[in-house]
Order: sequence, then structure tokens, then C-alpha cells
Amino acid sequence: MQKKINELRIKKEEALLGGGQKKIDSQHSKGKLTARERIELLLDPGSMEEMGMLVTHRTYDFGMNDQLFYGDGVITAYGTIRERLVYVYAQDFTVFGGSLSETHAEKICKLMDLALRNGAPIIGLNDSGGARIQEGVRSLAGYADIFYRNVRASGVIPQISAIMGPCAGGAVYSPAITDFIIMVEESSYMFVTGPNVVKTVTNEEINSEQLGGAHTHATKSGVTQLTAVNDIDCIESIKKLISYLPQNCEETAEDLPYLFVDETIEQIEDIIPENPMQPYDIKSIIEKIIDPDSFFEIHEEFADNIVVGFARLAGKSIGIIANQPMVLAGCLDVNASKKGARFVRTCDCFNIPLLVLEDVPGFLPGSDQEWNGIISNGAKLLYAFSEATVPRITLITRKAYGGAYDVMNSKHIGADFNYAWPCAEIAVMGAKGATEIIFKKEIDSSSDPAKAMIEKEQEYANKFANPYHAAARGFIDEVIEPKETRKKLIKSFSTLINKVDNLPRKKHGNIPL
Ligand code: HXC
Repeated sequence: MQKKINELRIKKEEALLGGGQKKIDSQHSKGKLTARERIELLLDPGSMEEMGMLVTHRTYDFGMNDQLFYGDGVITAYGTIRERLVYVYAQDFTVFGGSLSETHAEKICKLMDLALRNGAPIIGLNDSGGARIQEGVRSLAGYADIFYRNVRASGVIPQISAIMGPCAGGAVYSPAITDFIIMVEESSYMFVTGPNVVKTVTNEEINSEQLGGAHTHATKSGVTQLTAVNDIDCIESIKKLISYLPQNCEETAEDLPYLFVDETIEQIEDIIPENPMQPYDIKSIIEKIIDPDSFFEIHEEFADNIVVGFARLAGKSIGIIANQPMVLAGCLDVNASKKGARFVRTCDCFNIPLLVLEDVPGFLPGSDQEWNGIISNGAKLLYAFSEATVPRITLITRKAYGGAYDVMNSKHIGADFNYAWPCAEIAVMGAKGATEIIFKKEIDSSSDPAKAMIEKEQEYANKFANPYHAAARGFIDEVIEPKETRKKLIKSFSTLINKVDNLPRKKHGNIPL
């Protein structure tokens, strides 16, 4: 027996070495951790239980039978993050460049099946040269098996993808289907076709970083929701992200202990400028409303005219969607609508209540916006809010104009509570634009058109640049003093804790994708 045990130990020691010390050193020399180091850093110490450690590939072509590595380029395991069960796989670049073989894919699929059956998050740490070239279609089949499971698990368990090295070709589609992507700066990239193919087909000269690096996907494409400066930072961000999410769609996120104090917020009203045309930073309002240092911004560098992220309010996880007056005056455009819609749906499928902070002068005008589909993209945000069944509260901090008033979680599309500050302006449009249209004849025929314009603008502003018309109709439940905001929100959300809101029976809706 002891001989057999020794034999097992030797095999496991070999497996721990992946592709060998030389390749581990090469991974370190690029500033990257190994797959095993990444998992160990992610999971609570001593909680990792590896599965499939002795799996090997089944390829005999191209001399592959001489190159067998235990684990076959991916480590699959379960363990805990702050005592919560998670399933994790990490591709091992030291073994055939982390490329995906039939058996490598089987290991990931087995893990995904377990995660789905047991209702726990799955985290993929990607670092791979893509399809195992020596295996041809068997490798492609393996990818499709993973994609299929990603879709089946979507909305059931949280799926998080970290990109910690190459992720190219069709391999990008597994992360793309998951709930969150986080990319490590300078050591990761994602693209469907790499720089060489781009050069051949389009004659464009571009390097990997420019084409599909973390910065590119954080700012231009919006493919990645988060970036990290290095592997350690990436792992820490995953742990933080997990803390705001529940285990699955049947549960709610864990509450943190919270001691109630006097919840009055000091000097919050000073943040809104007297001049309604002057911008202010919505994040400074967010920070004052939520629990200290609890804001975890998502998609920070993409479409920054809308701010989305997780936070805690009296210890409970909430999702925040806020117009940002500092950028494009907070207008909704194509990218902001897509970003907002995606976040609303993410929160809704994982039972995370939504808080909307609204200061929006409307949709961004222009041919660029129209031709890029502001109609169908704006509709995504409208659709996402309308179908969300989680507790939903809106606070209008200043402007709520036009269609954007409807879209930003208005009472009419199912928000539970709608509040406004006294400085709110709820109208079809701003006073100047409205005056130019409805008082055009009177102003033109006046002996002093400039004076008439000012008077009419004032008349319109007095009538509509306030929250009281909406409050009189019940579209706003209450006009509140800014300093009372936190107290009001904590109370209101606490009344919604058992909210039940069922959608009509259907196969699935048809969001304008
Ligand atoms: C088999 C691979 C591999 C692959 C890398 N390796 N990619 N083995 N299949 N796809 C091996 C290399 O042969 C090498 O083995 C080791 O991994 C490390 O690779 P290097 O090239 O030395 O590393 P580096 O210089 O860092 O370059 C990494 C790389 C490059 C940029 C990822 O290896 C590369 O371009 N690989 C091919 C990428 C690719 O075209 N993949 C297919 C994409 S299409 P040795 O033994 O020498 O150390 C695809 C379709 C998916 O994936 C479709 C899904 C639907």
C-alpha cells in the first residue's frame, strides 16, 4: 500500500509543477502569477479542493503522446471566499500555453455543472493561447460545450471571468457571456482576430495592447467592466465583487452588520450648484448617501455620463445607477444606455435592489447618436428597468427632462418609491428650449424680444422647473430635504424587503438587443 501511496504522491507533485520550473520562471518573469498561485490567493487559506488533478490529454498526433502533463493546462477546484463556496478554474499557461484541449474543456464543464447544480458562483481565470491546435475540431467542440453552459448558468449563478493573459479567437465568447470581466493591465488582451490577421485583411497596423488590451476594452468597447494593475489586484477585485453578490438567483447578497446612528447627512445640499447649468460630481452625492467607502464602481471608464456600481446602505448590498452631470451634462447616449441596461439586468437577476439618482437633461441629440441606434439602445434601458422586479427607488436630484424622465426608473415603469429634492425640475424640456418653441410668436412680435424671452423663460421655469407638479399627481411620492435622503432610503428599502412582483408568464421577453 505504501508503495501505491508514494506513487500517488509523485504524480501529485508532478501535477503541482505544471509545465515545469523553467516555464513557471518564465511566467513570473512576465510579472504574472501561475495558475496555482492565483487560485491559492483567491480562496480562503486551506479551503482549496482540486479536482481532475491527474487528467491528461488524449491526443497522439504531432508527438503529443510524449508530452503528457497532469491537469492538462487547467486547474479546477472548489473552495471558499470569506467562507462562501465558489468554484474556480485557472488556465495554466505553462502547459501548452494554457490552450484548450478536449479534456481541458471537460474539466471546466464538470466544474460548471457542479456550480450550477449547487448554486454557487463560478470564477474563470483565463490565460490561454486558445484552441489546442493539435486537437482540431475536438477543441472547438470543447469551447462550444463551455459556451452552452455559460448561457444555461446565466442569471442563475454569478459568473466572473478574469483575463490574466491571452484570450483570443472564439475563446473570448465564454467571458463575454459571463456577468463580469476583469482584465489585468498590460499582461492580458482579448480579440476575435489578432494584429496579424487585422494587418492581412485590412492593412491596419496595430499591436495587441491597442487592439484588445485592458485599457482599450475598459474605455472603447466596454467589453471589460473592471481592470486591475496586476494579478494580485485582480484577485482582490474578484473577492470584493463577490461580496456584493448572492450565491445564486434564489438568494440575496449577504448583509454586513450595521449599527444605526443619526442618519442625517450634513452639507449634502451644498453640492448642487445654484446655477442649474453648472455641473457637479454625482459621485460626491453617492458617497454621502451610502455606507462609508462602500462604493464599488463598475464600468468606470466607459460611458462616464452614467455611473453604475454596487454599494451598501445600512449594510445591505444595492446597485446604483446615476446620471453624471460632469460628463455630457448627464445626457443619455447609446453607450450610457447599454451600460445602464446591462447593470440593471445584472442586479435584477441577482436580487440586488436598485437606487437611481437622476439628473438628466434628456437623450444626446445628433446624427451620430441616431445612426448608432439611440432608439433601440435607449429602449434597452427602458426595457431593463421596466422588467426589473427587485426593489427600485429613484431620487431626482435636479433635472428630469423628457423621455429620459420616463426611462430613468420613473413611477410609470414600476419604481416602488420616487423622491425628489426641492431643486428638482421635472418637465418636458429645459425652460429655454421650451420658451423658444411655445412662446415663439409672442417673443417675435414683442417690441423687446430679448426682454420678452427672459420673462417667458421665467414664467415657464416658475411653473415647471420644480418637483411639485409631479408630486401633485403622485408621480413623486415625496419631495424630501437632501439631508433626510439617507434616512428615507434606508427606511424605504427596508419596507421592500419582501417585495414580490411577478412578470406575466412568458418564455422570455424580447429586449431590443
Ligand atoms: C497549442 C499552444 C497554443 C495553442 C500556445 N501554445 N498556443 N499550443 N495550441 N493554441 C504553446 C506554444 O507552442 C508554446 O509551447 C507555449 O504554448 C507557449 O507559447 P509561446 O508562443 O511560446 O508564448 P508567447 O510568446 O507568450 O505567445 C503566446 C501566444 C502564442 C500569443 C498565445 O502562443 C500564440 O499566438 N498562440 C496561438 C494562438 C492562436 O492562434 N490560437 C488559436 C486561436 S483560434 P512550447 O512547447 O514551445 O513551450 C481559437 C478558436 C477558438 O482559439 C474557437 C472557439 C469557438
